[in-house]
Amino acid sequence: MKAKLEQIKAEALEALKNVSTMEELDGIRVKYLGKKGEITAILKQMGKLSPEERPIVGQVANQVRADIEASMGEASSAIKEKLLEQRLKNEKLDVTIPGTEVLAGHKHPMTIVLDEVKDIFVGMGFSIAEGPEVELSVYDFDKLNIPEGHTVREWQDTFYITEDEKVHLRCQTSPVQVRVMEATKPPIRIISPGRVYRKDEVDATHSPMFHQIEGLVVDKGITMGDLKGTLNALVAKLYGPEAKTRFRPHHFPFTEPSCEVDVQCFACGGEGCRVCKGEGWIELLGAGMVHPKVLAGCGIDPDEYSGFAFGIGLERVAMRRFAITDMRLIYENDTRFLSQF
Ligand code: PHE
Repeated sequence: MKAKLEQIKAEALEALKNVSTMEELDGIRVKYLGKKGEITAILKQMGKLSPEERPIVGQVANQVRADIEASMGEASSAIKEKLLEQRLKNEKLDVTIPGTEVLAGHKHPMTIVLDEVKDIFVGMGFSIAEGPEVELSVYDFDKLNIPEGHTVREWQDTFYITEDEKVHLRCQTSPVQVRVMEATKPPIRIISPGRVYRKDEVDATHSPMFHQIEGLVVDKGITMGDLKGTLNALVAKLYGPEAKTRFRPHHFPFTEPSCEVDVQCFACGGEGCRVCKGEGWIELLGAGMVHPKVLAGCGIDPDEYSGFAFGIGLERVAMRRFAITDMRLIYENDTRFLSQF
């Protein structure tokens, strides 16, 4: 029996040399030390031994059990250590590898220019007003002194919402003038940026949707001098103090007198080149003194108050500013283009 116990011990220790997982270790524990294990089986046969032999075999059995247990403890620590090592290896983090770059977005060129123009006017005491893009023809035309049948309605043909053409996408930001004058008493000093729509074919300088900024000042004693001063200040801020302006007589139904404002060509300095199509000047905006009929129609007494208004095409400002030669680029959202700004 002693020999058998020694053999069990030898076997168990041999088996422990090769264990590599906790599961295997448990198997060995059950096989040798468990209730139905080999040592227990031997101890059950102790009854057959003589009283002299019993304590001796008992002692050997205990020693064998203790030796196997000690060995198992060592094997268990070895396995745990190996598992930890493996985990550390798997979870290794190389902090020197460059990370994935997070691309930060930035403003669209139109927004850059819009914010700049807004800043310039806010700095001059203007506030910002907004109006609907789906507009009533009463506001876009009638109250702007453009009655039914007026040729302007044809040039500024737009997209109609209703069949009677009384609701449409606004073709200019000028209806905001009317909305503001109807809602507020002078003094008024606002700009109104936004989208406008016209039935234009898409090409390098046209789009059926584009942006304007309307401006309106109404107070006592406002003159053409105020208009010129304000717009010259705008041009100086946008294009530098040397930029020259030219005020050219023009016609708009809702202003009288009316003008168009040109800026001397930045590319040729006024001599005439491809950029300005040989003109030496580039058209920037339309403006004029608010027509007395328009003031009166909005409940403002034209004998007491006067005002000026202007409308700037924002795409034109952006194209000039960034030397963009094709308007379509502004709308195509191609990041190869947009990332340049
Ligand atoms: N609304 C005019 C246009 O779209 C521009 C303009 C605005 C002219 C205000 C004079 C005064 O052409």
